[in-house]
Amino acid sequence: MERADHIRMEELERGNDTLKKENQLLRTILDAIHESIFVVNEKDEIILYNTESEKMEGLKRKDILGKKEDDVYAQPYYFSAEVTKKILQTGKPMIEQPYWYNLNDGRKINMIFSAFPFYYQGEIAAVYVIFRNMNQIGDFIALTLEMQKKFIREEKDQQTRAPYLLDDVIGINSKLNRIVIEARRIASRNSPVLIVGETGTGKELFAQGIHNASLHSKGPFIPINCAAIPDTLLESVLFGTVKGAFTGATDIPGLFEQAEDGTVFLDEINSMSFSLQGKLLRVLQDKSVRRLGSKTEIPLECRIISATNIDPVTAVKEQILRSDLYFRLATVTINIPPLRDRNEDIRILARYFIKKYSVQFGLFINDISAELLHFFEQYHWPGNVRELENFIEGAMNFVQNEDRILGLHHLPEYFRERLFPKKEVPSTLTLKGTLQNTLLETEKQLIKTALTQNKGNITKTAQELGISRQNLHYKLKALGISGNISL
Ligand SMILES: Nc1ncnc2c1ncn2[C@@H]1O[C@H](COP(=O)(O)OP(=O)(O)O)[C@@H](O)[C@H]1O
Ligand SMILES: [Mg+2]
Repeated sequence: MERADHIRMEELERGNDTLKKENQLLRTILDAIHESIFVVNEKDEIILYNTESEKMEGLKRKDILGKKEDDVYAQPYYFSAEVTKKILQTGKPMIEQPYWYNLNDGRKINMIFSAFPFYYQGEIAAVYVIFRNMNQIGDFIALTLEMQKKFIREEKDQQTRAPYLLDDVIGINSKLNRIVIEARRIASRNSPVLIVGETGTGKELFAQGIHNASLHSKGPFIPINCAAIPDTLLESVLFGTVKGAFTGATDIPGLFEQAEDGTVFLDEINSMSFSLQGKLLRVLQDKSVRRLGSKTEIPLECRIISATNIDPVTAVKEQILRSDLYFRLATVTINIPPLRDRNEDIRILARYFIKKYSVQFGLFINDISAELLHFFEQYHWPGNVRELENFIEGAMNFVQNEDRILGLHHLPEYFRERLFPKKEVPSTLTLKGTLQNTLLETEKQLIKTALTQNKGNITKTAQELGISRQNLHYKLKALGISGNISL
């Protein structure tokens, strides 16, 4: 008997020990978290007050534990007056409520709290309140906003960075090389440059190259595609606005202003409306910009490079491009020949892109097969260098680890179809209504053609079609074809 008691005592003590340990662990955790925790018992005496609460209210746990809320806090105090007492009465929690109160030393605390009843053996034994200091959250939001601004600035830096140099222009074509030399020569001057070339010929590459070789290279490079933005918006984007210029307008600098000592690249200038072209001309002539709705003239400090993918002389003739603006923009004109006119560059560029994607994809391809090169040299490259790069990138996805040469078999089907376009499918073979109708329509067309070719001779037509004369007569009637085919 005695022995059994002894064992029970040991068990109890061991259990007690475990409880103590767990209790201590929980208190340690409660002191480590960033929310204030405050607990009162059923007699409204404070029984738990964590470290975050001490920090927030500037009170010491040892001074308030066991005391009533009303004795600790200046009146009127929210928790005593409303929350804890109310919950002790109603047994209902309050979730995510905003509130503020003044501490004894006059400091104001903004917070959001949740308060819950704690039931023990069916009775409310305590109320626990968890709250977050909104002053801290305010700091947190300010920090987040600051980070967002920093991110936007970095994004903008990325956008206004021009990675390409004139050295990056690849090719051995003599015309192209002359353009590179010319671009280097004119880069250091401030005059406007007009770059003419089909899509994908490297207009932007040249624009960046000129910017980076110019006195404006420290400033931003700001490209804008005039075709991508509606005209009214383009105007405010280029020139900027002042508050009140139109409903909702705010003070925003335009791209010309933002470019400061950099370069504005006006891509697809031919897409700009005539009236906006006129306004642009005035800016270039006056060397100053006025924001929409403003009278203040801001000096134009940036270099203007523009580009068009249609021949500017034709564009002027067709009244797409104002001639006065054209002469102003084209102080220096650079004409980039299309890829099909510089066959010798196809191999050079193909090998260049093959190496680029080989490195990027971790492959070991270093050349192009003679067969594939042959097809590349026959192709007309409507998308120019950009299209060639897309072809190679696409094909490199079908390369095996052991491959060393890029061949025709690596080209995906849709690229092969582009390289060797199929003969057009006769339009008579498209479905016209139901299958039955289509068949009848096709039969009718074939009979008509045969009749015409045989000058309306029924016997010969029937022979050619491999049917009897009677059958042909029947079909002509049934299909509503007149026997007198006009020739
Ligand atoms: N001569 C070239 N050497 C190297 N890359 C080129 C060359 N021409 C064009 N590219 C590349 O082809 C792509 C299209 O060029 P881009 O300058 O955007 O053409 P565009 O502005 O005329 O449409 C870009 O990735 C560019 O780097
Ligand atoms: Mg472009």
